[in-house]
Amino acid sequence: MKVFTNAENLRQALMAQKDKKTIGFVPTMGALHKGHLSLVSQALSENDCAVVSIFVNPTQFDNAGDLKKYPRTLDKDVALLKTLQGTVYVFAPTANELYNNAIVSRHFNYGPIAKEMEGKHRDGHFDGVGTVVSLLLKAVNPNKAYFGQKDFQQLQIVKKLVELEKLSVKIIGCPIVREENGVAMSSRNKRLTKSQFEAATVISKTLKEVKDNFEKMSIPQLNALAKQRFKDNKHIELEYFEIANEATLKTVQRKRKGNKYRGFVAAFAGEVRLIDNMHL
Ligand code: PAF
Repeated sequence: MKVFTNAENLRQALMAQKDKKTIGFVPTMGALHKGHLSLVSQALSENDCAVVSIFVNPTQFDNAGDLKKYPRTLDKDVALLKTLQGTVYVFAPTANELYNNAIVSRHFNYGPIAKEMEGKHRDGHFDGVGTVVSLLLKAVNPNKAYFGQKDFQQLQIVKKLVELEKLSVKIIGCPIVREENGVAMSSRNKRLTKSQFEAATVISKTLKEVKDNFEKMSIPQLNALAKQRFKDNKHIELEYFEIANEATLKTVQRKRKGNKYRGFVAAFAGEVRLIDNMHL
């Protein structure tokens, strides 16, 4: 497996085989888990090769401590990718390399979808995501790029970014992969203690309970139920629970026929911020 730190070298290697070959791209921040591997497997099954980027992007963090503590496990990541069948290129640039020595965010007009949830709670986050995803897509020039639905809002933002930047890549959203106890897989789970990992099940359990009661109960009742479940849990601190229209990501107070809805959670286990969502 080839690990590239330089975009030009990666571009040349891909160009050398590009003619009849399609490229599936999986951007990651490393600390790979089964959720990432399912994205890479899908990329390999739908393309002739996969490129996996491993880059902890400084411009999308609004919290310096979180950036510093983000797990970095490149050797392990490469070893995991080697277990997959197929041609995988790893792109692991330095920040200066990828950003051409100017590590700052661009600003994007994504419209209303960027103003909800993560956009409200993480200042500048989606500008940082857009900046790095745009740089990565231009470096890799893939046919398709794969993003997990755990970051459902990010997936919509990336689709908008591709429209704004007029990039010719198809963005594919892939299902959330969960741990046996229901916790959505995330690189941040590596920072949880055993008891926090167990306590974090309140997130997916609550989303499931809201899903199971979605027809029977009103949105205010469901919001109250969810908040109560988090109040009852001493180890997990809720940042937000929202039921939103899946297309617009706008928080809703009542259901309307024909619309699709999704429940969204952000919560803290100690210092570790976890997010999850579920179609209702
Ligand atoms: O979802 C992530 O891991 C990151 O936000 C991404 C898309 C790799 C950009 O840094």
